[in-house]
Amino acid sequence: MTQAEFRRAMGCFATGVTIITVDYEGEVQGMTANAFASVSLDPQLVLVCVDQRSRTHAHLHAKKRFGVNVLAENQRAVSEYYALPAEAQDRGEGEARTRFERTAHGTPVLQGALAYLECRLHTAQDAGDHTIFIAEVEDVVVREGDPLLYFRGKYRSIGP
Ligand SMILES: Cc1cc2nc3c(=O)[nH]c(=O)nc-3n(C[C@H](O)[C@H](O)[C@H](O)COP(=O)(O)O)c2cc1C
Repeated sequence: MTQAEFRRAMGCFATGVTIITVDYEGEVQGMTANAFASVSLDPQLVLVCVDQRSRTHAHLHAKKRFGVNVLAENQRAVSEYYALPAEAQDRGEGEARTRFERTAHGTPVLQGALAYLECRLHTAQDAGDHTIFIAEVEDVVVREGDPLLYFRGKYRSIGP
């Protein structure tokens, strides 16, 4: 099986889209992620799988606290921006047009997202070229609206 075949198969699994946010010395570090899942109800745990080469990976390890922002249908540009490679973001490519608030812990919260989860790192398990970050959810915010979806490599909306 090639990597392309593996990706094609995984692309059949329709997901929502999240932005993982970490405070990095007062700056917002954000990364688009759909490898996000609920793990346990008692205690309340979630997981996110993060590429070991990403900037976010280093920040999650250092900070041990992050936010998960579940994107709304109209936040496709936000997803595209936070999926850009570090160099492209640093060159000023793409437009985020995002505003963040801060929780009491200083974690950045994306305005306009469908849901926000405040996460404290529980365990980190390396798995191949990614790390599975399992975190305890300390607080949530939920808003009305429809989600941004990702299926077969394209953004979608839920439709009527
Ligand atoms: C829809 C979508 C979902 C993604 N999901 C993940 C993911 O779950 N984990 C991951 O490590 N990268 C994922 N990526 C890729 C990262 O967003 C991308 O590598 C990003 O540039 C990393 O940013 P950073 O280096 O600033 O942390 C996804 C990209 C897209 C477009």
